[in-house]
Amino acid sequence: MSAIEALDNPDQVLQRAKTENLISPRFYTTDYAAMDRLDISAVRAEWDAMLAEYEGDNNHDHFKRDENFAAEIRTLEPALQKEFLDFLVTSITSEFSGCVLYNEIRKKVDNPDIKKLMTYLTRDESRHAGFINQSLKDYGLAVDLQKLKATKAYTFFKPKYIFYATYLSEKIGYARYITIFRQLEKHPELRFHPIFRWFERWCNDEFRHGESFALIMRANPHLLRGMNLLWVRFFLLAVYATMFVRDHTRPMLHRAMGLEPDDFDYRVFEITSEISRQVFPLTLDTDAPAFRAGLDRLVRARVRFDAGRERGGLRGRLQQAGAAVTGAVTFVRLFLHPVKRHDLPAQIRVAPVW
Ligand SMILES: [Fe+2]
Ligand SMILES: [Fe+2]
Repeated sequence: MSAIEALDNPDQVLQRAKTENLISPRFYTTDYAAMDRLDISAVRAEWDAMLAEYEGDNNHDHFKRDENFAAEIRTLEPALQKEFLDFLVTSITSEFSGCVLYNEIRKKVDNPDIKKLMTYLTRDESRHAGFINQSLKDYGLAVDLQKLKATKAYTFFKPKYIFYATYLSEKIGYARYITIFRQLEKHPELRFHPIFRWFERWCNDEFRHGESFALIMRANPHLLRGMNLLWVRFFLLAVYATMFVRDHTRPMLHRAMGLEPDDFDYRVFEITSEISRQVFPLTLDTDAPAFRAGLDRLVRARVRFDAGRERGGLRGRLQQAGAAVTGAVTFVRLFLHPVKRHDLPAQIRVAPVW
């Protein structure tokens, strides 16, 4: 049921990276003046400790390929290769999306705390994007990042939405990479590409990026109260649902690593929810059978939507419209599903122990 398209040349890759749909990674702009006014003094001690970690830069030598890298690249069967390349392209798009956003904020604010943080975040994300691009280059498919920056559509998000969305994407990024890394640590024979060897130290960067946004939100607690909790709920669901649908439309990638997409995704949700208790006073009940049934329905709606597009004509369009309605109604029902509530811990930061 794979709905992704094959990538054969750099132009197609650029097109894929520019694709705008509900589940593709986006580029953002925001209100830089509001970013400039942020005050993190309520979390000063934890903030300074975190900045010292960035400054220590324990990954400065990590994103270089070692001498064994090229030798470990295997010939993959075409369907798996297609999904793997799609994985690399969506990954580089979201790494680079972070890089562009953080760099813009860095340039446009004077607030020393935020400027410093954004400098480190830009440094890390540009390393990550560059490292993935080297692997795409092996297949003759490197993404022209400058062209992507100049031509991809940008979505405006208020700072608070940036915080909810980037916090979650950093933490879920950590949870995904560490789950893959742990699985391949147990089953090295399933490591079908050397890039996965880099994931452990890589995801510690993402974890720390998430910590930064957790501190910003906890320093501004109005972001985590009242009506804003509806936004927290919305972003949690949007991020979880997007990942679930995307992973279930490229199931071979996970199966090749010995991971069923369901098991993988629910493990990632479990880790992300556990971490996000540092900042969000609610988590989604991803174990509830009704919630899980809703996610499955979203995947089926997506598959029907893509089939309608492929079919074309009036019937194809009707099928697409029907699937879009099912998807939207299902999303609303998932949004209304009861959540779990809890108090926020006094100590904000958590360690990447998964
Ligand atoms: Fe990254
Ligand atoms: Fe990151």
